This record gives sequence, C-alpha cells and structure tokens, in this order.
Amino acid sequence: MANLKLKDVAKVYGGQVEVLKDIDLDIETGELIVFVGPSGCGKSTLLRMIAGLEQISGGTLEIDGMVVNDVPPSERGIAMVFQSYALYPHMTVYDNMAFALQIAKKSKEEIDRAVRAAADKLQLTEYLDRLPKALSGGQRQRVAIGRSIVRDPKVYLFDEPLSNLDAALRVATRIEIAQLKEQMPDSTMIYVTHDQVEAMTLASRIVVLDALKDNGYKYSIAQVGTPLELYETPNSEFVARFIGSPAMNLLEGEIVATGETTTLRTRLGAGTITSNVPSRPEDQGAQVKVGIRPEDAVATDSEDFAFSGKVEVEERLGEVTLLYFERGAGQNDPVIAKLPGIHPGMRGNTVKLTADPAKVHIFQDGTSLLYR
Ligand SMILES: Nc1ncnc2c1ncn2[C@@H]1O[C@H](COP(=O)(O)OP(=O)(O)O)[C@@H](O)[C@H]1O
Ligand SMILES: [Mg+2]
Repeated sequence: MANLKLKDVAKVYGGQVEVLKDIDLDIETGELIVFVGPSGCGKSTLLRMIAGLEQISGGTLEIDGMVVNDVPPSERGIAMVFQSYALYPHMTVYDNMAFALQIAKKSKEEIDRAVRAAADKLQLTEYLDRLPKALSGGQRQRVAIGRSIVRDPKVYLFDEPLSNLDAALRVATRIEIAQLKEQMPDSTMIYVTHDQVEAMTLASRIVVLDALKDNGYKYSIAQVGTPLELYETPNSEFVARFIGSPAMNLLEGEIVATGETTTLRTRLGAGTITSNVPSRPEDQGAQVKVGIRPEDAVATDSEDFAFSGKVEVEERLGEVTLLYFERGAGQNDPVIAKLPGIHPGMRGNTVKLTADPAKVHIFQDGTSLLYR
C-alpha cells in the first residue's frame, strides 16, 4: 500500500537537455495510473525517476508522505517490469521467480509460499518446472511480472510491458493484468503504454504528457483524468486527438450565437451546428475549431449540416463502416465518420454530417472552451 506525490518534478539530462518540467501528480493507494504521450516525451524517464534508477533534477517525490529523492531503489519498495523481460534462460519458471528472494536470504518456506502464491495469481502453476524457452511470449511476460510480485512491492511500475507481444497475446495479457490488479486492490501501479486501448481499459486515471508551448522539447502534464473524462471532456485539441481512435475531427468554425449553448458555423457546412458547451457574449464571431469524434458524426438529409463531402474511401469493418472525406485543397487529414453497421456503396456519394449538441467540442487556440 502506497501513495505517491510528485511536486514540481523536473528532469534535465547531462545538465542541459531538459526533458520534463513542472510534473505535479498525486497518486492514491490502489490506483492504476497510465502515462501516455508521444514517443520521447519522457514516460520512461518519469518511471525511472520514481523507481530511483534516474536522478530527479528538480522537485520532490514522496512515497507515503516521505521524500525519497535520495533513497536508493532497493529501499523504495518499488518493482519495475520492462518491455524486454530478461528471464534467466537456464532457470525454471520457479527459480526465475524465486531468485530475488534467494538473494535476499529468505527462508525456503517463505520463498515457496511467495512463488506459489504469485504463480497462482498469474496462472503459471502448471509451468513452474519449465524453462523460459518452453513458454509463449505472454507466459514469459507473466513470469517477469511474477518476479516482481514475490517481492511484495508497494508500487509496481510497468514500462510498455506488452509491446513485444503480437496482437492476440496483447489482448489476452492485457485482460490478465486487469484481473491481476483486481486481485491486488491495494497495490499501486503505474503503467506506460502507447496503446490507446490498454490505457482506456486498464487505467483508473490517465496522465497525458504533451510538449510545453514555450519549447517543443520540454514535456509536462497536459491533462489527468479517468479514461472517460479524457474522452468526453478533453481540455485541449492535443488530448482530444490523442484519446480516441480514429482521432477526433477538427473543423474550422466560427461562433455565431453565444449563451448556455453555442451555435457555430463551420467552413465546410452550409448550416449551423450547436454545442452544449457554453460561451460568452464576447465570443461572438470567434474563430474556433469544432471537434466531432468520428463515432459521433451522424449522416443527415437536413439543410442544416456541419460538413458535407464526397466519400473518398469506405472501410467496412463489419460492426462499423468508416467513411473518409477529403476536406479540400491543402488539407491532408481527412474527415472521418464512423457509422454503426454496414453501409455498402457509399463511395463517391456526397454525405452531409452533423452531431448531437452534447457531443460537439469547441477549441480556441488549442484549448477547450470548457477549461478556459
Ligand atoms: N540517459 C539519457 N541521456 C540523455 N538523454 C536521454 C537519456 N535517456 C533519455 N533521454 C532523452 O530523454 C527524452 C525522453 O526519453 P524517454 O523517457 O525514453 O521517452 P519515452 O519513454 O516517452 O519514449 C528523449 O528525448 C531521450 O532522447
Ligand atoms: Mg519509453
């Protein structure tokens, strides 16, 4: 059981390369926090600072109310599971899991109890006598997790643990991690992934890292929230585009009526669209981006539509159909609509789209109107 408090944490490599800045984050006991962000934004760096494998350049890290900046890794009660699960190839599953406890000179009985309990949690009991080479990738990763469980750490850190596994195994192992977490409600976990679905399904809260506006190479926290908070009320265009797949469509628009709800006109529509996001009288005429998720786009026959375009590509996935529209000259990213069910023969058709006011987001200078 442990809570963590990061205050103003910063990382500067080699005295010059600023990577992370102003990291403020409270993690409660039993949470499963997921860090997401672009490659190179400092996710591994942040985990390594928490583990004590990397010096903290500024700010403080507290575990259970105690500042641990200068506490060595072995005394922090933290276990880290990496993407590459380096198991000892000549040792059985049992011995791989027992190794750290043997080094720590625990009694045979204690070791046996810990290894068998971990194997039971991870469904590895029948594989205890096998060598790693006789296991699947997913089973090997479970042994790697087992090695940390036997030490009974207060905090588990996972750095993209599933990214070496193929798609089917990723799904299976992801579900196992979710079940494992349920069996260990008091364990605090921090999990780094670039996989959307892992983040959405595993996290109690997601932390999105983004480049600070003043400098493209320093990163900080863009938003922290439950998966659905980030999905439903992203605070910025960045978070809006980062969470959800395909990414949220952003249409150039103008506010034409303000108040409790906001009426907008988009450049690619003939009519208007209303958002439940409130706006102020002085917003009249403001140039904004109108955000509509592909799954919230609705085809309409009305003359009041936010977007109209020709279907360039149609992807039929069975449960949904993805329609891709070109926006016009000089604009690369297509507008995408995700319609439930099968819609054959839409390619080449002109389709008009709108959305439920409750699902229409508004961004000004990159920031959601809800958060200014
Ligand atoms: N030991 C190091 N020395 C200097 N720069 C480093 C070192 N480790 C990582 N970096 C840099 O810090 C940034 C963040 O790296 P990392 O934490 O690995 O990102 P992520 O895990 O989000 O992909 C990158 O620009 C990387 O090149
Ligand atoms: Mg990394």
